[in-house]
Amino acid sequence: MKINGTHYRSVWLAEDGETVEIFDQTKLPFEVQTIQLRTMQDAATAIKEMWVRGAPLIGAVAAYGMALAMHQESSDDNLQQAYDILIKTRPTAINLKWALDRSYRTLENIEPSLRKIAAYRIANEIADEDVELCRKIGEHGLKIIQCIAETKPADETINILTHCNAGWLATVDWGTALAPIYMAHDAGIKVHVWVDETRPRNQGGLTAFELGSHGVPHTLIADNAGGHLMQHGKVDLCIVGTDRTTARGDVCNKIGTYLKALAAKANQIPFYVALPSPTLDFTVWDGVKEIPIEQRSGEEQSHVYGITPEGTYSWVNTAPQGTACGNYAFDVTPAEFITGLITERGVCDASAEGLRMLFPDLCEQQA
Ligand code: MRU
Repeated sequence: MKINGTHYRSVWLAEDGETVEIFDQTKLPFEVQTIQLRTMQDAATAIKEMWVRGAPLIGAVAAYGMALAMHQESSDDNLQQAYDILIKTRPTAINLKWALDRSYRTLENIEPSLRKIAAYRIANEIADEDVELCRKIGEHGLKIIQCIAETKPADETINILTHCNAGWLATVDWGTALAPIYMAHDAGIKVHVWVDETRPRNQGGLTAFELGSHGVPHTLIADNAGGHLMQHGKVDLCIVGTDRTTARGDVCNKIGTYLKALAAKANQIPFYVALPSPTLDFTVWDGVKEIPIEQRSGEEQSHVYGITPEGTYSWVNTAPQGTACGNYAFDVTPAEFITGLITERGVCDASAEGLRMLFPDLCEQQA
């Protein structure tokens, strides 16, 4: 997608073909700054500290982390160590494990002198594939938006609510939840996006940045505003992303997604989840009971990060000194609250049958 007219991916290789470059997403939306990752440890830090975030992008950067490790030293020990370090960076998004397993399984069967080239090839493949998966998600999701447009008087705007950032900054390009929105906008459908702020890390700011760069009309709202807007007929459709979707269609996503799904159900508003297949985890059935929910530092809850009018970055305390803070990063929306899953292979029910019909191969491989 584009920033000021220039096309970018969210992760790419520098001219030397080895250094990995990313945007520092902790500086966005205030400043577009890139960071170079030169070692596996750099990649691990980038994921852990959320310089990169979003399930598909975490997977791609982890795969590049394996490549950087093989560039540093391609022994069996280093291969295992890289896997062990990278897998611990964040616990919830299954794309991390998916990418690391894919890299590890290939590399362990290759002689050490050939591992570096193979590891970069795998990482490049994962990145390229993600772009294509997200593009297809966009095409399938576009049809849903087109159907809603047909039920409305011509020229009336379609209001879509999204939570967190599931755009191109969370993937390699296009995004998941935002891909259909970009395509609808490009197809001339009038869309407007309600962007949840998404405390505590304010990923809504990233979504607003992306939509603004692409010229899509949007409004940033407090996380608690969605229910009110739905009650007043101001939301036609919700689309969110996911960090892990289970065999029966339960969806784990950024904290607060569940409350939006409840409000959507109560107000008969379609609630869709967009996901590429690497986000599916057929080994898990009951998302609430089985998915590990990341708990991050309480400081992210008691403080807000922002920029002053003078351009200085500030970390501002909003809580009484010493207040106990809970920072649950994700929640699980049970399948019954989800209208459909938008995948690269089409749209299906959020159910075991729906997923099995679209992904019989993965279902068999993983279960
Ligand atoms: O903590 P984050 O910012 O990594 O969480 C990201 C989300 O929850 C996204 O909605 C999810 O990864 C889907 S991204 C296409």
